[in-house]
Amino acid sequence: MLTIRPLSQAEYDARIPALKAEYAADEVRAGRGAPQDALARVEQQFAALLPDGLATEGQLMFAGEVDGEVVGFLWIALPTADRPQAWIYEIQVDEAHRRRGHGRALMLAAEDELRARGVTRLGLNVFGHNPGARQLYESLGFETTSQQMSKALE
Ligand SMILES: CC(C)(COP(=O)(O)OP(=O)(O)OC[C@H]1O[C@@H](n2cnc3c(N)ncnc32)[C@H](O)[C@@H]1OP(=O)(O)O)[C@@H](O)C(=O)NCCC(=O)NCCS
Repeated sequence: MLTIRPLSQAEYDARIPALKAEYAADEVRAGRGAPQDALARVEQQFAALLPDGLATEGQLMFAGEVDGEVVGFLWIALPTADRPQAWIYEIQVDEAHRRRGHGRALMLAAEDELRARGVTRLGLNVFGHNPGARQLYESLGFETTSQQMSKALE
């Protein structure tokens, strides 16, 4: 059974650089902003989102464990005045552990954690080039609230 516990500082330090690189690659793939500035933009976003790193108020990070082994990572933000719903900034199941139900279990653990804190709505962003994640969210009852579209012009 999967359980979640707060991420340690060492785990944060190990995961965040790779996460920034993935965010930047996703932005480039989605055609957002100048590619050469993608990592710099992500650095700015992270500095704004996580001014106190792991200790930032309202930002919750967890490791997902199965039988004492870490299988994934979860980053949730609590609602703010500007965003009246909680937000999933990242869910990751480490590559060797995928397609065994851990992603679903991490999402359900996130929902439980938020319900226990009195939160009534949860949102997230998912890129069109990530159909597996989209399928996971849809199977859990998430509905599309907005959609960006793009077409390559030959
Ligand atoms: C998305 C992710 C968290 C899914 O984790 P997982 O543990 O493999 O997911 P689960 O085993 O719980 O899968 C649940 C369902 O999601 C869907 N799904 C998950 N991965 C899929 C894939 N690669 N292709 C198609 N469907 C997929 C399926 O419907 C699956 O149910 P099934 O296995 O019964 O068919 C994982 O692939 C991941 O960490 N990806 C990299 C990070 C990422 O993209 N995060 C999402 C950012 S929005």
